[in-house]
Amino acid sequence: MVGCSCQKLPQNFKFGAATAAYQIEGGWKADGKGKSVWDEFVHTHKDAIEDRTNGDVAADSYHLWREDVRIASQLGLDHYRFSISWSRILPSGLPNNVNKAGVKYYSDLIDELLRQGIEPVVTMYHFDLPLTLQSLGGWTNPLIVDWFSDYAKVLYSLFADRVKTWITMNEAVVLCDMIFNTGSLAPGIKEEELAPFLCNKYLLLAHAKAYRIYEREYKNKYHGRISLANNIIWIEPYKHPRDKELAKLGLDFMIGRYSHPIYSKEGGWPPTVEKILLEYSLKQGYNYSRLPSFTEEEKKLLKGSADFYAVNYYTTYVIRPAKKGERGFWFLTGSPELDAMMEKPAYAEPSAGVIMPVYPKGLRQTLSYLKKNYGDIDIMITENGYAGKHQMYDHVRLKFIKDHLTEVYLAINEDKVNVIGYTYWALMDNFEWNSGYSVAFGLYAINHDDPKKIRSPRLSSQYYACVIKTHEINVSDQCINENIDKLHLPHYHSFTNRISASKTVIVVLFLGFMYIYYYR
Ligand code: NOJ
Repeated sequence: MVGCSCQKLPQNFKFGAATAAYQIEGGWKADGKGKSVWDEFVHTHKDAIEDRTNGDVAADSYHLWREDVRIASQLGLDHYRFSISWSRILPSGLPNNVNKAGVKYYSDLIDELLRQGIEPVVTMYHFDLPLTLQSLGGWTNPLIVDWFSDYAKVLYSLFADRVKTWITMNEAVVLCDMIFNTGSLAPGIKEEELAPFLCNKYLLLAHAKAYRIYEREYKNKYHGRISLANNIIWIEPYKHPRDKELAKLGLDFMIGRYSHPIYSKEGGWPPTVEKILLEYSLKQGYNYSRLPSFTEEEKKLLKGSADFYAVNYYTTYVIRPAKKGERGFWFLTGSPELDAMMEKPAYAEPSAGVIMPVYPKGLRQTLSYLKKNYGDIDIMITENGYAGKHQMYDHVRLKFIKDHLTEVYLAINEDKVNVIGYTYWALMDNFEWNSGYSVAFGLYAINHDDPKKIRSPRLSSQYYACVIKTHEINVSDQCINENIDKLHLPHYHSFTNRISASKTVIVVLFLGFMYIYYYR
């Protein structure tokens, strides 16, 4: 094609979009559903949510799920990643009482997706622990390994005939580190010393046990694949060459603690983390490491317990040594064990998600790192998304997706990484945890004040639809405009957009000069 800067993703590359139960379903106590930690948290900690909202209704997907499938199909998605609410299936979290209405809800959703030719990618656990299990200690109680694997057994028995891709846990590092280090997310418990590390161990074992059950009882029959989704914040050195070593350690803490036991050849914790935590714990007066060790049997259970690597990528941070008295919490600002602070890089673009500056190049770095450390494993991007304002003509989100897909293209073609798919977060606007409805991630917008919760396509959705159709990242304006003609959006011109951005800069500079000239 003349003048085409073509960048095509492979024909077998899969495109999807994602959501999670608490963020979209609503129906928080419908038809026998039990309470989850989030149901409790939003009602008891109203101030913890920026706009004091909650997920009681959210996108009302409990009732409007057919709409979700309709828009997924309108986009041409290969897969739709959604999560199952544990307490909708098992109201108390335990398998003695299975909620038939909950089973029917997910069963119907799965059937409809398959009818539309969309693969269901199912997350078993996305932050919404049944409240009963939380009152028994949740992720810090070793019994959670059995509670979770019993839940997984129920899910396999119900859906393994139709679901071929399973994600056991979403964002282990958020679940264990961010939640317990900040106390700002459900269940609202802040305990930085032991909880993150107990949770780290039991969560991995729960995942591995669920994996082995599938491997033993279902794999030969259904040939499905299982993994856990890790949230990776890419970490770069701040300035000084000595920060390089710190960045490496930061990645061992961030990625290694949740990946090394599963994907490395030797198994177990990353040796650097094991050493630092033992030394630090002893200095604190413990006579053991706060990072609980694995038995040989546990190491064996964990090693190789994933069929592919699932990664959620949003952002990149820089790391530097902490100054005297500076102490943050791990993975947003710092780690006491590393004596380090993390900051937003000056070279990243801001977004409406204050903790998520945009830096697409970090995605390629992440993918190459995974290949370098864990070999030629298949990698699926299970989340990547832009936190924006509520506008429909979201060319910034369009650019975000394009820039990230370009990095995926480079990772595949230049670095030879086996990236098998990309999943945009989110299919539609939803409840964004502490930010409530104040930011928007959706390819489809929802006006949360309107009880009808209509899903309206944004500009970016039509760009994405063109990419999905052609596998070409630099889609023509014509393709987008053919789609958006039907949507009553103004026509898109990638060139004009660039011009209008530079025009804005010129006007602002001009007004600035005028102001200085007259008021000096
Ligand atoms: C990752 C989480 O899995 C999801 O729940 C959240 O909404 C997005 N990041 C955006 O913050």
